[in-house]
Amino acid sequence: MVASLERYRSIVVLTGAGMSADSGVATFRGPDGLWEGHRVEDVATPEAFRRDPALVHAFYDARRAKLDNVEPNAGHHALARLDAQWPGDLLIVTQNVDDLHERAGARRLLHMHGELKRGWCTACDRRFPWSGPMGEPAVCPGCGQTGQVRPDIVWFGEMPYEMERIDEALMTADLFVSIGTSGAVYPAAGFVQTARYRGARCLEINLEPSQGSIFFHETRLGRASELVPAWVAELLT
Ligand code: OAD
Repeated sequence: MVASLERYRSIVVLTGAGMSADSGVATFRGPDGLWEGHRVEDVATPEAFRRDPALVHAFYDARRAKLDNVEPNAGHHALARLDAQWPGDLLIVTQNVDDLHERAGARRLLHMHGELKRGWCTACDRRFPWSGPMGEPAVCPGCGQTGQVRPDIVWFGEMPYEMERIDEALMTADLFVSIGTSGAVYPAAGFVQTARYRGARCLEINLEPSQGSIFFHETRLGRASELVPAWVAELLT
């Protein structure tokens, strides 16, 4: 019997770019405000894709290719261990589009901002796994149309995935933990307020206080690859 089960039955974990930073995946809001040399608006909006699909495809193709050279870090492995061993409810909501949580073995996981390794055909509306470059000439494996496949990534101005499921989990959570996210992008940035209002204890693990830091009961500052394993060990003791 896990002792913390007496305090918590239901946990929601939110992860952001800081979760994968120690694996060598770039975060979004670095000191110069650029993301891999691009402004977010130039590569992460539907308008950008309409204006310059080649640039947007090249950007996501490069990021997808990079996934082959990175590995889950100790933080991802710790969350996968939590997933395997926590007997209560758990939902890991990631804003990350990499596949490091699942490669570490996490199962109770959803990607609210989509996934680099999936494509979406705007002609037939199918979504499907994708590996390798996508590029403009990509052919939809469902309907066979060329040039209508885009990365299955939620861009600015688009609705994140599975919001109903996330809201339900936040309503019943008694522990909410936010890891490696700046708290700059809604709706994820507002999850702490929902969870707290519904009575959950709220813990933040981040390199520096996030924009929503004041809403958390506790903030632990440091690297996710060090602090997340320590927190999971505490919880599972
Ligand atoms: P950000 O780049 O905005 O924030 C990353 C956070 O992680 C910052 O607060 C850093 O201090 C922290 N951090 C960096 N390294 C860390 C480490 N090793 N351990 C712990 N924390 C660390 O990334 P997100 O908050 O994830 O959306 O960004 C949210 C969304 O904005 C993204 O999902 C993306 C972007 O636009 C879409 O693409 C739709």
